[in-house]
Amino acid sequence: MQTIIAISGSLRSASVNTTLLNIVATRLPSGIEYSIFEGIADLPHFNPDIDKGEPLPAVQRLRDRIREAAAVVICTPEYAFGVPGVLKNALDWLVSSGELNEKPVASISASPLYRGGDRAHASLSLTLEALGTKQVARVTIPAITTKLNGEGQLTHPETLQELDQLAQALVATIQP
Ligand SMILES: Cc1cc2nc3c(=O)[nH]c(=O)nc-3n(C[C@H](O)[C@H](O)[C@H](O)COP(=O)(O)O)c2cc1C
Repeated sequence: MQTIIAISGSLRSASVNTTLLNIVATRLPSGIEYSIFEGIADLPHFNPDIDKGEPLPAVQRLRDRIREAAAVVICTPEYAFGVPGVLKNALDWLVSSGELNEKPVASISASPLYRGGDRAHASLSLTLEALGTKQVARVTIPAITTKLNGEGQLTHPETLQELDQLAQALVATIQP
């Protein structure tokens, strides 16, 4: 079975970005295994001095999950016009080991503000380019808190359509 791994750039329990990744799960066809990787908070700060020899367990888990996945989807908030440190840290751990090289990746940014985290998204795209990923879809979602209801459902048809297109683009890259 093909697997898609999702990574949220937010560690908040009530994160709208994690909520969006749960919504992406509902837009995929059956027969695809989908899960959100929960371990990025367990990663140590990236340091090339400790990126040698046997990887630390938290690093190995991340690398294994990404290697086994046919595709990856990332959904992130913007912090101070950039990518949250915890997400950038996770991506830095994948530079030397190369699991993201040639991997299809879809990216989403979402913000309560009107720009939808586009500056973080632009920065994320550069990092994904540096990592050699195949960027298959990008969605930037402004005013996200007005588009979700209390049950974590998207009430904005255009955004749902954008997530559908993103899901289809991901699936098209991993299914012949
Ligand atoms: C430290 C910090 C910095 C932020 N900086 C930005 C920013 O630069 N741009 C933006 O659109 N929102 C910014 N926000 C607001 C976040 O977009 C908002 O908190 C969002 O809901 C976080 O996503 P989450 O719900 O997935 O945790 C910031 C929030 C925090 C806590």
